[in-house]
Amino acid sequence: MCGIIGYVGNDNAAPKIVKGLSLLEYRGYDSAGIAFLKDGAARIVKTSGRVDSLREKLLKSDKSYCAIGHTRWATHGPVNDVNAHPHKSGNVTLVHNGIIENYIEIKNELQTQGVVFKSSTDTEAASALINKYYNELGSEKDAIKKALFEIKGSYAFAIMFKGKEEIWVAKKESSLIIGYGNDGFYVSSDIIALLPFTDTYYVVNDGEIARISSDSAIVFDTNGEKEIHWQKSEQDEQNIQKDGYDHFMLKEMHEQASAIYNTISVRAKKEMPDFSDELASDFFDGTERIEFVACGSAMHASLAGAGFIEQLAKIPSNAYIASEYRYSVPAFKKNTLTIAVSQSGETADTLGALREAKRIGNKTLAIVNARETAIAKEADACLYTYAGPEIAVATTKGYATQVALIYLIAIYLANKNAQINAHIAQVLTDTLLNSVPKAINETMLRENEMKSIARRIFDLDNLFYIGRGVDYYISMEAALKLKEISYIHAQAYPSAELKHGTISLVEKSTPVVAISTNEQLYSKTESNLLETKSRGAYTILITSNIKTASEADALIFVPYQSAIERFFCSLTLTQMIAYYAAFFRGCDIDKPRNLAKSVTVE
Ligand code: AGP
Repeated sequence: MCGIIGYVGNDNAAPKIVKGLSLLEYRGYDSAGIAFLKDGAARIVKTSGRVDSLREKLLKSDKSYCAIGHTRWATHGPVNDVNAHPHKSGNVTLVHNGIIENYIEIKNELQTQGVVFKSSTDTEAASALINKYYNELGSEKDAIKKALFEIKGSYAFAIMFKGKEEIWVAKKESSLIIGYGNDGFYVSSDIIALLPFTDTYYVVNDGEIARISSDSAIVFDTNGEKEIHWQKSEQDEQNIQKDGYDHFMLKEMHEQASAIYNTISVRAKKEMPDFSDELASDFFDGTERIEFVACGSAMHASLAGAGFIEQLAKIPSNAYIASEYRYSVPAFKKNTLTIAVSQSGETADTLGALREAKRIGNKTLAIVNARETAIAKEADACLYTYAGPEIAVATTKGYATQVALIYLIAIYLANKNAQINAHIAQVLTDTLLNSVPKAINETMLRENEMKSIARRIFDLDNLFYIGRGVDYYISMEAALKLKEISYIHAQAYPSAELKHGTISLVEKSTPVVAISTNEQLYSKTESNLLETKSRGAYTILITSNIKTASEADALIFVPYQSAIERFFCSLTLTQMIAYYAAFFRGCDIDKPRNLAKSVTVE
């Protein structure tokens, strides 16, 4: 995905655009650019690389009161200056987040009419098409509407027209908001980028077009001009500062305990799960099957969550990779609840799977962190996590609050279905609300222990995480974290399955980390680990079995009694291993190569 921003007002635009782009870089950071209105014409400065490279190219003289900006995660066309946004076609200059699926047909048609394209992006097809209709119709709104009629795909556009000190926007599936500041009006992919300037915003809906100028904002829907209901952001600029941490990721790891507490406390009344403020009292009634749809870490959270629900509430539950689900929907079963899990609320694959679940008639629930986002709005109901803004591309508190919230749902359903009594439900809820945050904070103090483990593995290129059941699900998240930020190839494997082929990859010094927090399986997982040791592996055992006699090369103890405390302690330990391995490798931890915080394309 990409980040777009725009400003029209009575202040110098360029510094605002650059500041806003630096706060949108989590959405993509392959290239950056700005277009500002100068003497009636759009002057463009753009570059491959980070927003800092763009800042260096800007001149003090680049003063303007109307500008748009863009930070890119490349989807079509290599990363270079030409393909960086903004794109200009005749009288039209624009920036875009999304994908134009029929851009080749549009470009071919325009080329037959003599249009010459400079870039290999899909976006330039849009600027050229709008320009064509603007030249024909003379009206910005009509030109945009006619072009959008032809464009297929997803978009959030910010568009400037030659000689006009205003910005037009249009939105379909890609997030877009309008900000109302003391010094003018803004548009942005995310409120985070506007927090230095305003906390008052409007969420643009699919199919709406809007125009902002220095003193007004007008929104048009299919019925014409509509009233704008401004809202205030719950977040403030302080939420998006590193506060002295080396990286946002480390800060957000330290915020996990409070994020879980905040997510659970709003739904734990008298220490019992209570969703009555958010869901109809009969929302879960009759649910015979629960299927999760999600991507990446949210999918790992869903796997763990499905396990908790099956174990506690005895309701058949599965987790599906959203991009697979949407094109191979499971056999329909009536009374199925589909739960879409997403930190950003904008992940295209998850949104697509959610829509597919609705199409076949499932009841749907969203578990989302970012407010007012597509997945949150399109599900039948939504339970928000309270992790606050998550800036690091590699999720930590976002994932942790997803697991915690699903675990609370599992307790609720287990009690509702009389699988556990109210007392057990209270004990489990109290543990989740109070003991888990305490365990996480205690675990975060073990950073020197984790640094020594990270130092042992950071210069290797392959690593295995193994575990059984929920420990395997933690292993999947641990492996993804390590891959994402340190670029070490890590693979999670069910520990017993390793010997059915993959153990052939184990050679001298290959690090194998076993996670073992289930009493019934201690000996089995430990023997699986030693099978790798006998083949030369460097073995690390993360275990709650404090009586273990394991000959593993390194032992990391998980000193907690309940399964859920053990879950979050193990998770926190593996997050720290990943963080410090990446740190020792000198990686860009908050903005890993090739990644973006939310993938709003298929
Ligand atoms: C997690 O560290 C990754 N950044 C990625 O796997 C992420 O979890 C996935 O893209 C889903 O994002 P979402 O939760 O915003 O839908």
